[in-house]
Amino acid sequence: MAKPKILLVDDEKKIKETLKIVLENEGYEVQTASNGVEALNLLEDEYFDVTLTDNRMPEMNGLELMREISKSDIKTAVIFITAYADIKDAVEAIKLGAYNYLEKNFTTEELLSVIKEALEKQKMIEKNNILKKKLKNHSPFHGIVGESKKIKEIKNLICKIADSKASVLLMGESGTGKELFARAIHQCSQRRNKPFVAINCAALPQTLLESELFGYEKGAFTGALKQKKGKFELANGGTLFLDEIGEMNLETQSKLLRVLQEKEYERVGGLKPIKVDIRVVAATNVDLKEAIKQGRFREDLYYRINVIPIEIPPLRERKEDIPILAEYFLKMFNREYDKSIDLISMEVLDIFMEYEWRGNARELKNIIESAVAVASPDDKILGPQHLQAHFVNTKRKNSNEIKDGMSLAEIEKQYIYNTLKKVNWNKSKAAKILNINRQTLYNKIKSLNIKK
Ligand SMILES: Nc1ncnc2c1ncn2[C@@H]1O[C@H](COP(=O)(O)OP(=O)(O)OP(=O)(O)O)[C@@H](O)[C@H]1O
Ligand SMILES: [Mg+2]
Repeated sequence: MAKPKILLVDDEKKIKETLKIVLENEGYEVQTASNGVEALNLLEDEYFDVTLTDNRMPEMNGLELMREISKSDIKTAVIFITAYADIKDAVEAIKLGAYNYLEKNFTTEELLSVIKEALEKQKMIEKNNILKKKLKNHSPFHGIVGESKKIKEIKNLICKIADSKASVLLMGESGTGKELFARAIHQCSQRRNKPFVAINCAALPQTLLESELFGYEKGAFTGALKQKKGKFELANGGTLFLDEIGEMNLETQSKLLRVLQEKEYERVGGLKPIKVDIRVVAATNVDLKEAIKQGRFREDLYYRINVIPIEIPPLRERKEDIPILAEYFLKMFNREYDKSIDLISMEVLDIFMEYEWRGNARELKNIIESAVAVASPDDKILGPQHLQAHFVNTKRKNSNEIKDGMSLAEIEKQYIYNTLKKVNWNKSKAAKILNINRQTLYNKIKSLNIKK
């Protein structure tokens, strides 16, 4: 990684030189200027992460320099150094966008800590700018955001198969966007001006599901006071989305199979066959092959609906989509809640990248919505304090990996935790595997605060 670059602006040679040595020892690349004019020239030519400027200088003082920076598109975090007597200037500089100020007799520690914070902030702004640019250049494909290879492949596939009449089976965990993809298929097809009709096979009791799908004639059963069109008829010419098809019972499955094979059916209680032209897109978050094995799903129906299988991977298998999705949802909810949070902190992005996302994109959407909802109207940065407590706390629990950068104690804790989990928290077994006695294991569980 390139060294962070710092520009030192001071007319007093001695101070400049001392500071330069201190900062270079910390691993920063340092350049110097003797006044505002010189600094401005350098800043216009190259990027400095941080500019540390004195106030009283000949030609152009620190405050004037800050004024020029604020008018330009120079991106640097300014730390304003001032004597106590000039504190008014520091306040003015902050108003103009300086990152912070230091009073003249600062300690090295104070200086380094302010620089570190400023660098963090620059990193966050830079990262967010990249994200914003990405999102701007990324025209969501029918509402689908994502730039991972897998999502790109699915988008391409959708374009290719949109106009075919072949049935599509969307497979993926809850919240991966199956309905979004089903709608995209419809929107890409020539059927787009005809209806897209969705029905959730899990939400209705089976008898109701049948009459919803096929409709009924007046008097077909008690309560059938007038004729009702089914979803098949309503979707005629368009697309029928059968959500959670794995939950459909076997009887309804055979009726569905018949419609798919013969392209006609009767309303419940009806005799006249009804012809339909529909494209079926089905979705499931259960493994249909397993359901077939257990006799809960018809194999022949499976082959009918699974002509074009599309598997949507869970979010944790395409982590590169997380930041851009987060940015997308942030923009969405800023609008909805009339907030103006324009940055996501590095800490939050790190938490997001580590998290498991069992609820996939929907969970991310919900997390961002609640964060935006609880933020104050003048909050500009989405930080960990906006996340639900359980979310931040579960972070560690969910990641069982031993990673670079962990301390020895963290590694030990993680290793013991993983072992205990493997043996279902049987401490005798775990102690054996770890080659320590039970008492030592108990002590470690306590001292390292290992929880189930
Ligand atoms: N790639 C994506 N880009 C933008 N929004 C997405 C994406 N994936 C999912 N979403 C959003 O996440 C939410 C959940 O998606 P959707 O309802 O399509 O999931 P699903 O797979 O049908 O889930 P379930 O199995 O629980 O019904 C929706 O609000 C959807 O708009
Ligand atoms: Mg769904």
